[in-house]
Amino acid sequence: MKSLLFSIVLPLLFSFFLYRRFTSMPSLSTVRAFNAAFSPSYTPVAIFVGGTSGIGQGMAEAFARHTKGNAHIVLVGRNRAAAESIIATFPKPTAPGVTHEFVECDITLMKNVHRVAGELRARIPKINFLVLTPGVMTMNGRNETEEGIDRKLAVHYYGRWRFIKDLLPAVEEAHKAGEDAKVMSVLAAGHGGKIDLEDLGLKKSFSIANAAAAAPTYNDIMVNDLAARYPGLSFIHAYPGGVATNLLKASDTRLLRISNTILMPLLSPFTYSVETSGEHQLYGLLKAGPGAVRSNDKGDDIGLTKAYYGSPEAMARLWKHTEEATKV
Ligand SMILES: *[C@@H]1O[C@H](CO)[C@@H](O)[C@H](O)[C@H]1NC(C)=O
Repeated sequence: MKSLLFSIVLPLLFSFFLYRRFTSMPSLSTVRAFNAAFSPSYTPVAIFVGGTSGIGQGMAEAFARHTKGNAHIVLVGRNRAAAESIIATFPKPTAPGVTHEFVECDITLMKNVHRVAGELRARIPKINFLVLTPGVMTMNGRNETEEGIDRKLAVHYYGRWRFIKDLLPAVEEAHKAGEDAKVMSVLAAGHGGKIDLEDLGLKKSFSIANAAAAAPTYNDIMVNDLAARYPGLSFIHAYPGGVATNLLKASDTRLLRISNTILMPLLSPFTYSVETSGEHQLYGLLKAGPGAVRSNDKGDDIGLTKAYYGSPEAMARLWKHTEEATKV
């Protein structure tokens, strides 16, 4: 068993990661140059839900850097102290009236999402970039909130959907003004599985495997559906690959917390840093055209058909189910 691991599995994994790391395009410097060339004629507004750590943090920092701080940036999350220390590293804006701010929200509860989105909507008439990256890693079973939604699915899908739905009028305003109007959900594009249309939300058939198949597929369907409903806007579902975030460390599963100490140092040559991932994902966001887009760890378009488990029927049923499940 052990010898099999060392003689076959590890070398294969090693070559695979090296291959992905060094042969796939574009390179980090290309991506950085592309991002640095972003120079809109307007002062952009970007909201990063989950921007207080991990990939969201990396994207927000890259965005702040490349706009030289001259963007209205909102970090939405649970950790004010983390947000404040991230914002402190942003270049100070020179454009008038531009702010960088933190808004507190626990996205597991739809009533929170609805309230926070409403507050944002009331004072921010136009949103150019809405990026959703909040994550949890758990191997525990279904864990319902008081609203009856599993916490992990709430963070990876339902809360994101509700945020997007509530803030879309502001994204549409940006589109009407001829500006960038883009929504991006970073989860696992192209890495979903088959879903059971009779059990959307996995109330009856929750398992770690089913949840891991469902959340990415729900996100795939979501971007396709939104793109059909809101022409002209961009809806991106991205797969970030392995990123050295604190998801394992923050897990409520003991085994995952332990594996963080053992695995992370071993995996570090094969995982992106938060900074590198932030650049690649920002690249995916900035270069996406209108319509639905799925992108990979480099920010490249992977198309809509490979490993896609949606259908017109799934789209219609998931929309209806989600509207009901996130109603407050
Ligand atoms: C359910 O989630 C809550 C909040 O994250 C956590 O405190 C609790 O330990 C979880 N329960 C189980 C059984 O995983």
